[in-house]
Amino acid sequence: MRRVFSGMQPSGEPHLGNLLGAWVSWVSLQDDAECIFCVVDLHAITSPAEHDPATLRSRTLQLATGMLAVGIDPSRSTLFVQSHLHEHAECTWLFNCVAGFGELRKMPQFREKSEGRGESVSAGLFDYPVLQAADILLYHADEVPVGEDQRHHIELARDIGQRFNHRFGEVFTLPKAVHPPAGARVMDLQDPTVKMSKSASSEKGIVRVLDDPDRVVKKFRSAVTDSDAVIRHDREAKPGVSNLLEILAAVTGRGVDDLVDEYAGQGYGTFKAAVAEAVVERLTPIRRRYDELADDPGEVTRILADGAQRARAIAAPTLREAKEAVGLLLPA
Ligand code: TYM
Repeated sequence: MRRVFSGMQPSGEPHLGNLLGAWVSWVSLQDDAECIFCVVDLHAITSPAEHDPATLRSRTLQLATGMLAVGIDPSRSTLFVQSHLHEHAECTWLFNCVAGFGELRKMPQFREKSEGRGESVSAGLFDYPVLQAADILLYHADEVPVGEDQRHHIELARDIGQRFNHRFGEVFTLPKAVHPPAGARVMDLQDPTVKMSKSASSEKGIVRVLDDPDRVVKKFRSAVTDSDAVIRHDREAKPGVSNLLEILAAVTGRGVDDLVDEYAGQGYGTFKAAVAEAVVERLTPIRRRYDELADDPGEVTRILADGAQRARAIAAPTLREAKEAVGLLLPA
């Protein structure tokens, strides 16, 4: 059975992009792959703006609760918190000695996040993709289901794994990124030229997975479109309408062309209301399940403890093999 690994940062409340770009595929992959999912808290501390200790702790538990609410099934999948396994940080060090300064400096997300921050950028932010490579490679993952924005990070993980294997012998499996057919790049509703992101400046452009129906409807009603009043898919010329079409396709499982045919000739108001309704329908059971699970945080921490144990059973032998391959003297 092929193995799948993916992770999400506990930075900010999860939004529609996280749901459609990642969670929906995670849930369906559980039917035919061995799945391992991780709350990547060590990644979340690389951006100082998001690093308030008490907030980080509660968001870590909330994100794990969200994953369960969305349909991650702990009886079939492994769900754990990254920092519960020292293996991730330790493997990162081995990879730091294989990864190049030049390739890390060029990573698009590092360039975006470090822009305008001069010398104050943390070394952790720079090293972020190396930790991500350790996350994936420790588990011999074949597939990594992610949104489009993670493409470069998965390619780098592949490059690091390949270089390590070439230098020290075949230890790591080379992974590939997999993206959902629709929803791999959900855009901000107020500025559809940028991706929906946990840290966007205006809440109006971000639909949170736990938003109540009224908020969802309001956000879609005020979504930025264009002035030509034609419903068709063209990311360049009509980014707002195209984004709404893709969101509707992702939540209903229908094709974009099919939706264009159905809504042809209708006004933007009607179309936006239909998208909002479909999204509310998708989010409502998740919100209900979240509320139930949040009443029993002890159960969530128990699931995470069990997940850490199962994860360690895979990660620890891989790390040992990598250390041995590098030539570190293993303790007696
Ligand atoms: P993060 O926490 O930013 O996002 C989690 C997942 O959500 C996807 N995503 C989106 N998909 C579509 N449209 C959007 N607007 C959108 N915004 C976010 C992301 O692509 C991702 O799949 N570096 C990773 C976390 C990570 C990881 C890993 C992922 C750490 N280790 C190992 C996979 C494997 C990140 O920042 O995701």
